[in-house]
Amino acid sequence: MKTIDFLSAEFNQNPYHFYRIMRNDLPLYFHETIQAYVLSRYEDIKFAFNNPAFTVKNYEFQSQPLHGRTILEMDGQEHARHRSIVAPSIRGKELQEKIMPIIERTCAEVLNDFEGKNKNDFATEFAAKFPIKVISAILGLEGENNEKFLVWYRSFVAFISDMGQHEQVTEAAFKTKAEIEEYLIPIIQERRQNPKDDILSKMCTARIDGVQMTDQEIRGFISLLITAGAESTDKILTLMFRNLLQNPKQMQMLIEDKSLIEKAFLESLRFSPPTHSIMRITSEEVEVSGGKIPANSQVIMWVGAAQRDERQFEKSEEFDILRTDLDWTKGFAPGANHIAFGGGRHFCVGSMLAKAEIDVAFRQIFEKFKNIRLVPNQNLQESGIFTRGITNMEIEYDCN
Ligand code: HEM
Repeated sequence: MKTIDFLSAEFNQNPYHFYRIMRNDLPLYFHETIQAYVLSRYEDIKFAFNNPAFTVKNYEFQSQPLHGRTILEMDGQEHARHRSIVAPSIRGKELQEKIMPIIERTCAEVLNDFEGKNKNDFATEFAAKFPIKVISAILGLEGENNEKFLVWYRSFVAFISDMGQHEQVTEAAFKTKAEIEEYLIPIIQERRQNPKDDILSKMCTARIDGVQMTDQEIRGFISLLITAGAESTDKILTLMFRNLLQNPKQMQMLIEDKSLIEKAFLESLRFSPPTHSIMRITSEEVEVSGGKIPANSQVIMWVGAAQRDERQFEKSEEFDILRTDLDWTKGFAPGANHIAFGGGRHFCVGSMLAKAEIDVAFRQIFEKFKNIRLVPNQNLQESGIFTRGITNMEIEYDCN
């Protein structure tokens, strides 16, 4: 059977070439090395996200060893009750009133380091710093060592992404787990005695069916939020800026009309999503794309391929912030017609927070700096097959 080896260097270099082949010729196939069925079409993955036969048991080995049992792998009432401890704090009124000032202030602080210079590495000096500072402040860990958080979440993401299961990656992730535990448990115990107005305190005081979460459960929830809240936003900031800088007419339109930031964000999530693949485990036999996936099978869903599916998006390989086939009105809710935030009950709980961060970041950047351009002749190669991003991106600019 024809197959595609997504552990190869060629795939990492340019997965989009292989995605086209998968969508057209291999919409469902079995990957022998990984022992998983592979999906790549938008319609099939959207179906899987919304079908309970595609369970989240994958997180029992992808996430549980590090974070313990978290909402990622919960279902039903248990999932809803745990998710509702965080969800209201990072959307709607609370987002607007309490979190927006934190985002505005944090963004200004990080951008301060750009002033008085006319060249900087956007990926390392802004994108890697801003979202981690925001999420730690919201959680109630402000002023803590964000440099350490960066190392921590990157080692966790390396673990979850490590389809090759390399020893070094596993060791680094477990070292991180021990460090986080050592750091967080005393803070959790202190916060139980002196709760504040933050998410950590909410976890410390919440009762689920009359029972408080244990220190270890809170530690896991916090380490999940640090990882999920920082990693994808970090990556999309640089990817979106790259997309705009490489399409100067669209960037100019956005500078003149800042309401286009939201569209540019959604289009970047479609064109260059930070999460390229998500796994699931089937609980029963499922028919998809004209074939069958047996019960208890691992499934790899290529979100990166689906987002460029020509059956769903016209001129799908083009970056176009004015495209009319992305539904702007629902782009940050489970009814979205893209799948960069997943779908169904596990749809990203932080989508509105990410939107707010992106909006504030690009508004402030275009207020403070002008004539922004990419430093020529640099390697802007994306890398990664689970999450995908750009490690370095040097920009030149003038201060306003
Ligand atoms: C552009 C930024 C982001 C992207 C592309 C993104 C993407 C995703 C995706 C694809 C999922 C679904 C995973 C699955 O179904 O297996 C997810 C879930 C999740 N995300 Fe995000 N995310 C982003 C930002 C954030 C932020 C800022 C937070 C911080 C709170 C966050 C927290 C979570 C959590 C906790 C889940 C698990 C939800 C559940 O299982 O119910 N994400 N995210």
